[in-house]
Amino acid sequence: MNKCDRNVWLQGGNSVCCREDKPLPRPYRIVLLGAPGVGKGTQAEMLSERLQACQLSTGDIFRAAKAADPATLTPAMRDALGYMQRGELVPDDTVIALVKERMTCLQCPYGFLLDGFPRTVHQAEALDEMLQQVNLRLDCVLNYELPLDEVVTRLSGRRTCRECKTTYHVMTKPPRKANMCDKCGGELYQREDDRPESIRVRLQAYEQSTAPLVEYYSKHGLLRSISAAGTPLEVFERTMVVLNERRI
Ligand code: AP5
Repeated sequence: MNKCDRNVWLQGGNSVCCREDKPLPRPYRIVLLGAPGVGKGTQAEMLSERLQACQLSTGDIFRAAKAADPATLTPAMRDALGYMQRGELVPDDTVIALVKERMTCLQCPYGFLLDGFPRTVHQAEALDEMLQQVNLRLDCVLNYELPLDEVVTRLSGRRTCRECKTTYHVMTKPPRKANMCDKCGGELYQREDDRPESIRVRLQAYEQSTAPLVEYYSKHGLLRSISAAGTPLEVFERTMVVLNERRI
């Protein structure tokens, strides 16, 4: 059973992690890279079950900030919300401040699965510094690859649960009951940024800012590229082969 508690990651501030199971002897510290819609979140969910590390998604923090009572937001979340409300991209320094507010998650004895951070080389350098300060290092960076037209199909069919954030796909992973989450019964919705006009902008931003990270992590000897084609389970099995090779 997954005992992850993502409260500290999603809310920051004084929130407390309720996890109390036995710490792992060799926790995994992993970054997931790949274009929007390639399936990082789907894999992070499956890896979280298997490796017992929390999925730490910066996109989830932004969505939590939008939904939260403004009085409860941390300073960096308030800044990020301001940019989003003005329709601007959240700049690197704000994203880095958000992650620094959550250093306890990076130091978690169960490890972590970073999903959506870092997104630029500047963010990657900041992550290196944060980890060095606490004498930790990444195990590896998983880079998921998929042809662009398939990425667009995955994004445009995605539906997300308003309550527990589980993701579905209208064709490849439909819920048992239309528009209702199998796990918690919450309502499913289409994310604003999954509409066709936003998808194009996100893919362009990815090419400009995030794709250079592939070279960055390759130079550091951490990059492992994985085909994201096939079913989620097939991609997961490929991922586990790569992780097991790293651990021999
Ligand atoms: P974020 O939420 O991180 O979005 P993203 O990186 O664009 O990634 P997605 O969540 O869209 O895709 P995914 O790869 O996780 O795919 P999923 O598994 O859901 O960020 C949102 C926004 O916040 C960004 O655009 C940016 O503006 C901002 N942001 C976030 N972090 C930032 C940062 N560090 N700095 C600055 N800005 C930041 O899968 C997609 C669909 O495909 C689902 O429906 C799923 O069911 C389906 N699917 C998955 N795998 C398969 C498969 N194998 N076969 C068939 N279907 C599949």
